[in-house]
Amino acid sequence: MARTSSVSAPRPGPQSGEQPEPSARARLRPGPAGAPLVVTRDESLLDELLRLAAAAGVTPELVSDGGAALRPWASAPLVLVGADLAGEVGALAPARRSGVFVVGWAPVPQETFRHALEVGAESIVDLPGSTVWLSERLTDLDDDLRRPGRMVGVVGGSGGAGASTFACALGQVAAREGATLVVDADPWGPGLDRMLGLEDLDGIRWDALHHATGRVSARSLREALPRRGSLGVLTFQAGAASTLSTVAARDTLAAARRGHDVVVVDLPRSPDPLVREVVDRCDALLVVVAPTLVGVASAARLSSRLGDAPGARLVLRGRGVAEHEVAAVTGLPVAATMPDQRGLAEALDLGLGPVRSRRGPLARAAATVLAGLGPVAA
Ligand SMILES: Nc1ncnc2c1ncn2[C@@H]1O[C@H](COP(=O)(O)OP(=O)(O)O)[C@@H](O)[C@H]1O
Ligand SMILES: [Mg+2]
Repeated sequence: MARTSSVSAPRPGPQSGEQPEPSARARLRPGPAGAPLVVTRDESLLDELLRLAAAAGVTPELVSDGGAALRPWASAPLVLVGADLAGEVGALAPARRSGVFVVGWAPVPQETFRHALEVGAESIVDLPGSTVWLSERLTDLDDDLRRPGRMVGVVGGSGGAGASTFACALGQVAAREGATLVVDADPWGPGLDRMLGLEDLDGIRWDALHHATGRVSARSLREALPRRGSLGVLTFQAGAASTLSTVAARDTLAAARRGHDVVVVDLPRSPDPLVREVVDRCDALLVVVAPTLVGVASAARLSSRLGDAPGARLVLRGRGVAEHEVAAVTGLPVAATMPDQRGLAEALDLGLGPVRSRRGPLARAAATVLAGLGPVAA
């Protein structure tokens, strides 16, 4: 986690304890609500942080003494404490919170490590070595300030129930309202990019994210994925055998949520601990059931494993066992029912995705389910 490095040539700042020039003091002013907090008297550090903030399009709130930092401390989305004032702030024992970093010119003085602990910093950010990281963090503030999007898991009650199709339909319908991402978490599935007709678009796949550790930038992720209009897709590389790494999946899905209004995850039916973890982070889990005897029996087995997940509900596809019986056997409420969609194979062949019109059964069922989630993030 520590971002300390001493690789690049240090740019010397003023000695600690030195007073700022009046010009710098004049610039110490409150920023707008939601502004990152910058706490420093180091003129050259302040210049650099202001430059990075301006490039990221944010106006920080600036304070030049420890005491003044305490008021906006809890509400600022990001707190950057200059190494020059880290000792002063640490002595005031500020409330513990995430998103606090001590920033200084490399090499930071030895005592900075102790001060960073005292202020509860996540790490020390040394400049200029970590300039890119800090720029990204500042650029991402917009996305961080938004309420994270809804995450909906979709899983088949039995093989071939129509889970992947329904996940794509949810994505297409949600994309009418805002930024949406459909995530393929089933390495053995047909590839959701193909189902949505997005397979020829440039963009990264899971394999590019497997080595991602730590915080993934929401904006970089959103912009790097194959996307048409508001609908993006994250899938596996065609033909490449692949599995999901737990760490990459965790960080990627967190970033996906920060950067989209709705994230739909097509989950495999395997009893993988990672699936359970993703399910627990979802706002809703939709179990797509073919209401045949075999389909319902399989769905009952699956719901004994995942039925206690937050917002677990059924989506019934086709005719057969009565709705209330499926609900009774699985112990889950029914969120939507739909007849088979005619012309589905043709729509997929044409690269249109499963939803061709708002009036089709898939579109209606998807809209019902999305409405049941409540309003999406503004
Ligand atoms: N709503 C639907 N209407 C008609 N056929 C469907 C529907 N959903 C899925 N199918 C068909 O069922 C088969 C399996 O669909 P798929 O979405 O891959 O299921 P799963 O992901 O549950 O294994 C496919 O041939 C697909 O065309
Ligand atoms: Mg599938």
